[in-house]
Amino acid sequence: MFQRVLAWFDDRLPITATWERHLSKYPAPIGQNFWYLAGVLLVVVLVIQLISGIWLLMNYEPTAEGAFASIQYIMRDVDGGWIIRYMHTTGASAFFLLIYLHMFRGILYGSYQKPRELLWILGWLTYFILVVEGFTGYVLPWGQMSFWAAQVIFSLVGAIPVVGEDLLTWIRGDYLISGITLNRLFAFHVVVLPLALIAVVAVHILALHEVGSNNPEGIDIKKFKDEDGVPLDSVPFFPYDVLKDLVAIVFFLILFCIVIFFFPDGGGYVIEYVNYEPANNLKTPEHIVPAWYYTPFYAMLRAITFSIGPFTAKFLGLVVFGAAIVILALYPWLDKSPVKSIRYKGIYSKIGLAVFVISFFVLGYLGSVTSSPLRTLLAQIFTFTYFAYFLLMPFYTKYEKCKPVPDRIIIK
Ligand code: HEM
Repeated sequence: MFQRVLAWFDDRLPITATWERHLSKYPAPIGQNFWYLAGVLLVVVLVIQLISGIWLLMNYEPTAEGAFASIQYIMRDVDGGWIIRYMHTTGASAFFLLIYLHMFRGILYGSYQKPRELLWILGWLTYFILVVEGFTGYVLPWGQMSFWAAQVIFSLVGAIPVVGEDLLTWIRGDYLISGITLNRLFAFHVVVLPLALIAVVAVHILALHEVGSNNPEGIDIKKFKDEDGVPLDSVPFFPYDVLKDLVAIVFFLILFCIVIFFFPDGGGYVIEYVNYEPANNLKTPEHIVPAWYYTPFYAMLRAITFSIGPFTAKFLGLVVFGAAIVILALYPWLDKSPVKSIRYKGIYSKIGLAVFVISFFVLGYLGSVTSSPLRTLLAQIFTFTYFAYFLLMPFYTKYEKCKPVPDRIIIK
């Protein structure tokens, strides 16, 4: 009976074919480690954000007069409102934590190299959308930090030469940050960006399944296949990887619940304390800091303290800020190494990666504290090393001596 029903559907919709292509017959390379769990967890967090977001929407009010109070209403009066909101705020931080781990895995194992360039670009696009999604969401509670974060970010647009001021008025929708601005950020946060994110994630996974997953060794598993054309160094994605992923999901959800139930503010990192005060355009907070996941880029923005010709320091800061994000998309073309995984790359790639990680963390710290002359100097030095890592990559990856890559994946 079941077979007959399935056959009826299969004649009209590729159900079995899709199941086989993406699950039961998708060859997952053996030896995929901890770093390979972030992808599925990102999908889980995407679902958490969508569901909790829809529920928040039922009681949130996107007006300058009502937004802050509606969040308090959700937290205090709506049944289960507090847990829905904490799911969403914790989900935002989890999203960024996982996306950074996920990207770092790709960097470690050269998962952006041919034939995965487009897969990388699509992934980068999800990151870019998420950066904007995070910002627009941050403004919605209309607390002090929401308002002033919007003030800082929008003022950057005003720094663009010639058209800046007009452009700023146009995108702000008003002569200052107001309820009108809040309204449009709301529209982007709940409709435009989530739709774009879902679409790009779907295409990202399609692209992955077209070219196949990489592995920590960076070995092409398609070189050695059995008589049925199945790569020898692979297992079917279902049930093997799915089971492994389920274990990871359970662990992740336990950690997620620990934050929600015991540390919902995350020490000011998940929800900033200043945002418990309603927005006040007459009182600038003493110390404006963005959410933790933007601080490395914020430090680079602030590191530019000098102007060049007609370009103000603020505009140049915006350019550096944008370039620091855009340059991440260029990995496939900057890395000229004949090998993929860091395990087989030469010493310069390893030093370069260490410089990159240290720069990113130091900048992350510097972007979260008030500036001082020494800190600005440090931010300038690490902005320089951050870009040097990328710009020198075509040279050191081309000329360094790499280790020979084995033909097959050996599990130690
Ligand atoms: C919402 C955001 C994202 C979701 C839901 C997502 C989802 C996934 C999933 C489920 C996989 C397969 C499992 C795995 O290998 O971990 C994957 C692989 C991959 N993703 Fe993403 N991803 C996202 C963002 C990104 C970003 C920002 C990048 C890079 C800029 C990226 C680059 C890659 C690459 C290169 C692979 C293949 C890795 C390999 O086989 O070694 N993804 N992604």
